[in-house]
Amino acid sequence: MCWKQRFCATILFLFCGAGGGGRREVAGEEVKVLGMQLDLEAPSRPDVVATYNLSLKFPEGGEASEMSVCYWAKPDTLTSYETHLSLAASDYENDILHLYRRGGQLGFYYNGVRQLGFPHLVTAIDLHTWKHYCHVFYQGEYAVYIGGEELGGGTIATSRVPVPLRGVIALGQEQDLLAGGYDPDQSYRGRLALMNIYSRRVTEAEIKQQASCGIVASGDIFSLERDEMTLTNVTIELHEAKEFCEASVDYVIFPERRNLPDSLQACRRVGYDMYSPSTHTQNTALFNESLLFSSECLANNYHLWVGATDREQENVWRKFIDGTIVTDPPFEQNEPNGGDGEDCILMFLLSGLWVDTSCSIKWAACVPCQVSYSKPLRLRGLCSPSEAETFYEVLGYKSEKPYFHGYYGNLVYRREGVEWEMYDLAHSAVVATTTLLSEDSYPLGRHRWTLRRGICKLPPNAEITLSFSVCANTEFACSNGDCIAKKYRCDGNNNCPDFSDEDDCQMLVLPRGYRPTQPPTNTQGTRPLLLGSVVRILRITRISDVRRAIDVEMSLDLQWPDPRITYLNLGDTLEWNKLTENETKNIWKPRLAFPNVYDGKINLIQEEFSVRKLKGPLPPQYNDEKMDIAFGGDAALVVQQQHFRCCARPPASPLRGILM
Ligand SMILES: *[C@@H]1O[C@H](CO)[C@@H](O)[C@H](O)[C@H]1NC(C)=O
Repeated sequence: MCWKQRFCATILFLFCGAGGGGRREVAGEEVKVLGMQLDLEAPSRPDVVATYNLSLKFPEGGEASEMSVCYWAKPDTLTSYETHLSLAASDYENDILHLYRRGGQLGFYYNGVRQLGFPHLVTAIDLHTWKHYCHVFYQGEYAVYIGGEELGGGTIATSRVPVPLRGVIALGQEQDLLAGGYDPDQSYRGRLALMNIYSRRVTEAEIKQQASCGIVASGDIFSLERDEMTLTNVTIELHEAKEFCEASVDYVIFPERRNLPDSLQACRRVGYDMYSPSTHTQNTALFNESLLFSSECLANNYHLWVGATDREQENVWRKFIDGTIVTDPPFEQNEPNGGDGEDCILMFLLSGLWVDTSCSIKWAACVPCQVSYSKPLRLRGLCSPSEAETFYEVLGYKSEKPYFHGYYGNLVYRREGVEWEMYDLAHSAVVATTTLLSEDSYPLGRHRWTLRRGICKLPPNAEITLSFSVCANTEFACSNGDCIAKKYRCDGNNNCPDFSDEDDCQMLVLPRGYRPTQPPTNTQGTRPLLLGSVVRILRITRISDVRRAIDVEMSLDLQWPDPRITYLNLGDTLEWNKLTENETKNIWKPRLAFPNVYDGKINLIQEEFSVRKLKGPLPPQYNDEKMDIAFGGDAALVVQQQHFRCCARPPASPLRGILM
């Protein structure tokens, strides 16, 4: 094909101009890292972008039937559409290529068509972590590789396979117009490096090599290393590419004094673990950071716990977090000296060096917690449209306390004293505030918040309960922020240390406008609701020939579905699912009349209502702060058990119950 020859000639020329081959070793070499909107406390902006005019390279245009786009990305904050790259050929053809992520979900536009056929391309969100991406487009097919592994792919929906090579490549913004029409909610916030675009299908071996920080061939269509981009409010740092393959270690100091077990728990409640430096340099950095917290932490000479222990083997100090050995622990002179009785570490305030101490000592010190980027804190109780919008992490400090950073930019921080605030960066507005019990508390677990603006159909000043915990959707979050398996919720035993798993154990949730006088509709068809019934004659106490009557004792069980009800935390047996009088008061139930009882009297000895479970629960709701196991209206029956003693007319006209 004519264009292809011309295109290849251009590429060859460029390669020769660049000094041959285009292959380069990057390990140990510094590469350009683009930084976009790195300030976590600033809202997303439309004016941060790196662009490249493809016409400079392909003055006469061109097109590519095969194309690979490979790069490293390290996001810090998410937006609605996290745009890695967009290619616009003109104001109208502005979605030639758009590579984006929504939460962890990858997506793309190809030749103007939004690709809906790839819902299975889901990645771990992992903020602040370098991840290698390679998108491969070949003859109408697509495959994407994350960290060198194929995540998936399939056939591209398009009427045109070749991609035009003209217009503008934008990194970090989505072009609704050529080099413009940017939307802050579709911008990228974080770092990008080693972006290369090839006019060919890169091989799996090549992708693996790139993803393990090995050799990267320069892209013939575009190379961030080689090509000069126009940068608007984008920073450039130089980093050794091998850093992308190293796990970054970050920590946060919780500046309240606690003993060791409580310190560990403080870290774990936010999904972290106690931090220990591995080297003297790291130890000095930790020491210096701890000096920021003058009032709280520096009140005594041993001011900070360190997450290392020699419990397993005397004088072999291992990190709590992964058991790795600290080879040259930074001990104070004449330390460690406690032998088997002192297996834990405190930092000495005057030198920043370590001393060994008993792990069970009643000593209160501050604690550094190592950040885990894979187990987010979750905020439950609002109405987030996607689960990732409930994710938070604890990073830096505000008002001398660690603060919570929402993955989509919201902030939760101490305003002053015991007052905490939830702030919506995108709208520059306070969402809600809460007052904690003490200055040592965090809004972890369940707390009452006061809304400062109307959200989730609630008016300003409404009081709502929100919970912050690291509990998964399969777990129940205790009011203090601990997590227990959901099956322990309302099981009659106290499993949370604060017993909150047995609080508010109601079994029925009625929708707004539920009318107890209105019988349930039959969802199985148009016929009236069918009541299941079982009548048991328990005994016949008297037969009177003269009166033509018998006295019987009997039980009557009725059961029916009420699709309007949502059931919570149902057990497997009826005994577990007994309803309280308060609960039955508000639901519809059949009323029975016995018109042929002798002298109109019937004795109801006992009556009980319970719920019979038929099916499994609904999927967990990530916004549900109560975290109950919910069952739909079709998943259970209401059971009414009645026990009568009565007298009726003889068998010739059997006892009749009439439903009213
Ligand atoms: C790209 O470069 C071409 C050729 O120099 C120029 O005509 C065009 O206006 C440029 N486009 C943009 C968006 O800067």
